[in-house]
Amino acid sequence: MSAAEAVSIEPALSVDRLTTVFRTASGPVTAVDGVSFDVMPGEVLGLVGESGSGKSVTLRSLMRLVHAPGEVTGRVLWRGQDLLSMPARALRRVRGGEIAMIFQEPTTALNPVLPVRMQIEENLAAHTALDKRQRRKRAIELLDLVGIPAAERRLDDYPHQFSGGMKQRVMIAIALASDPKLLLADEPTTALDVTIQDQILKLILDLRDEFAMSVVFVTHDLGVVAGTCDRMAVMYAGRIVESGSVADVFAEPHHPYTRGLLGSVPRGGAERTMLTSIEGTPPSLAAIPPGCAFAPRCGFATARCREERPVLDPFAPGRMVSCFHHQRVASAGAPA
Ligand SMILES: Nc1ncnc2c1ncn2[C@@H]1O[C@H](COP(=O)(O)OP(=O)(O)O)[C@@H](O)[C@H]1O
Ligand code: SF4
Ligand SMILES: [Mg+2]
Repeated sequence: MSAAEAVSIEPALSVDRLTTVFRTASGPVTAVDGVSFDVMPGEVLGLVGESGSGKSVTLRSLMRLVHAPGEVTGRVLWRGQDLLSMPARALRRVRGGEIAMIFQEPTTALNPVLPVRMQIEENLAAHTALDKRQRRKRAIELLDLVGIPAAERRLDDYPHQFSGGMKQRVMIAIALASDPKLLLADEPTTALDVTIQDQILKLILDLRDEFAMSVVFVTHDLGVVAGTCDRMAVMYAGRIVESGSVADVFAEPHHPYTRGLLGSVPRGGAERTMLTSIEGTPPSLAAIPPGCAFAPRCGFATARCREERPVLDPFAPGRMVSCFHHQRVASAGAPA
């Protein structure tokens, strides 16, 4: 389903003012600062930003995987229920069930001492009504679905017997065993070479279509965003600074940070680049400057920006930005 077809229905996931503070020896660190976004059924939302901008903590927070000294507040509505306040038992059914997660590093998600079949079947047993014989059949189907050759023969192999790309596929097969309605993917292809990256991304999109699944896709690769996502939200220093459809944001970025990121993508957007071309470094989260957090790096900054903090406001249908001078930024066109 496209984002356009999804507009008339309720969001699958609705994140409202999610905030995560770590109490550290050197004071509180606000890693996620009032983040709000919706994900529609069948939609792929890209969460983009430099390393340290709070993307992973956002995903972990909304799944209640942040523990003390981290403190999470806000609301995360999933099918009308708040994940942040629901009883732990109910949450366990949702996590790894209706909502599945895949991470950058498959080795941390796979159990090295269990054959992959058992890891898939465990998930099937926990989240489906299939009997033993059906679980084995489904395990083969899932390995086949994620593109593992000779799936039946590989069922009893251990994780270390798979290559990096194949391990990633195994992890996806395990995640999908529960027939999730939402997949949270945290840079799931960053460690892989480009050909395998493309195969895995295509696989996630096929699965989205097959399972009518929503996806939140964390990446710092704008090539990946252009090729996979319907909508995008750009994070800077723990906040969303701009959001909109991928087509709209790429055509006309309204935040100077987004404009800088897009300036680092070669023309045509075909090549993969890291987000490294904006001068300066993100602020320390323990010492966010007053006013706009991007001001020290921003070529559009004025006195107001250093005193007052801009909020994320809608400025066109489906578009939000937090910048006092976004119209000036948009009309400035692409950076030199
Ligand atoms: N356990 C923790 N204790 C203190 N600070 C943390 C902890 N985990 C994450 N952070 C802070 O949150 C910031 C954002 O981290 P993260 O979400 O992993 O960034 P990203 O995924 O965008 O690269 C980190 O730079 C760090 O300052
Ligand atoms: S509010 Fe000011 S400093 Fe912040 S991004 Fe906009 S122009 Fe730059
Ligand atoms: Mg991360």
